[in-house]
Amino acid sequence: MENIQSQDKKWHTRRRLLTPAFHFNILTQFMETFKSESVKFIKTLNDILEKKDSNGVISLSELIPRVTLNNVCETALGVCLDDRLDGDEYRQRISEVEESLLERLKNPLMGFDGFYYNCAEGKKYLKSMEKLHAFSSGIIEKRRELLSKEMEQEDMNQNDVDETNPYRKRRYAMLDTLLRAEKDGLIDHAGICEEVDTFMFEGFDTTSMNLIFALMSLALYPDMQRKCYEEIQENIQGDLASLDTQQLNNLKYLDCFIKETQRVYPSVPGIVRECTSDIVFGGKLLFPKGTQINIHIYDIHMNPKYYDEPERFNPERFMAPQAEKRHPFAFIPFSAGQRNCIGQKFALMEMKTLLVYVIKNFELEPVTRPEDFRFHAGLLIRTKTDIQVKIRKRVAT
Ligand code: HEM
Repeated sequence: MENIQSQDKKWHTRRRLLTPAFHFNILTQFMETFKSESVKFIKTLNDILEKKDSNGVISLSELIPRVTLNNVCETALGVCLDDRLDGDEYRQRISEVEESLLERLKNPLMGFDGFYYNCAEGKKYLKSMEKLHAFSSGIIEKRRELLSKEMEQEDMNQNDVDETNPYRKRRYAMLDTLLRAEKDGLIDHAGICEEVDTFMFEGFDTTSMNLIFALMSLALYPDMQRKCYEEIQENIQGDLASLDTQQLNNLKYLDCFIKETQRVYPSVPGIVRECTSDIVFGGKLLFPKGTQINIHIYDIHMNPKYYDEPERFNPERFMAPQAEKRHPFAFIPFSAGQRNCIGQKFALMEMKTLLVYVIKNFELEPVTRPEDFRFHAGLLIRTKTDIQVKIRKRVAT
């Protein structure tokens, strides 16, 4: 989290360090993890359906965060999060930190570090951060050990052509980049912890909220669900075991559907920027250095200047030529500019993979409707209500 708030120089160094870890070639290796987590998720849903008194109603709010937490832990951190209790606790700590940051934003006095860290809210924040760091440290330690073992094994097997050897197929975790940089003295343990927290905070709940709203919307709009299904049937023949990034890229309607979900329910509804120098806006308005600017992503996405009938859920608005005519900053779920989301391709790949598995295996019917829920004030979009859908096994057509 410190990274999201960090200042210029530190941010530049870290961003440069991390960028190669999000390279397309690295991301494609993560498909296997996304697929195996999707297979596990489908099995969970099948198990629910097989229960004697099951009516097929599932809680997305409960099930989806587990998938996305596992995905980010396995890919970004290279550790399989087998202890679910631990994961749930981690999630709870993230919410606490988010609440504390929000309280700080609401009270100008808390803007002063000296005041904030000495009042109850600031102390609560530090306590939650301490627990988060303990969790991250545990993961980092585990990965350090694994990495050394794997590197030793790689050395031993350099001339070994045995393809069944798991070490030859070791996937590269983003955390490895940081651990190697640590060896070169470019980052220390505390710095790695900060980056890990940022990955987790930015990469886990954002993606799960996006998936929850996408699945809910598929259930709400059966015609659109049908279109997604037909597109999958047309473009992905055979077993999903061989699903790859090229096939995902061919799913144009699904892509628009996800974009529309992000427009209506942006996981990050607003961001804050600070002017680092005086800026004259539109030739008239001066923003002096130090001005804090709140950018309301949600309001931009709902602006009728850019979107006809903004309240209407309509994926077609992201198709050409409508989309091409729109202002490039009228759709910014991943923010924009140099400090945009480094994980956007990762997130889209992860979400598309899970959605393909779900749509191919199940038909979704609505349970929770947008008029039933209220949004929670927070840094991320959330609802107080549990979001549910009803599932039925799909009969292939
Ligand atoms: C649907 C999913 C996601 C959404 C909507 C999203 C959105 C965003 C937004 C709006 C920002 C800018 C925040 C700010 O400026 O205050 C951001 C930053 C960031 N995101 Fe994402 N994100 C998503 C998924 C991910 C994933 C999966 C990862 C990593 C695996 C990730 C890693 C990051 C990082 C490290 C930053 C900080 C970038 C920097 O300051 O240089 N995000 N994200």
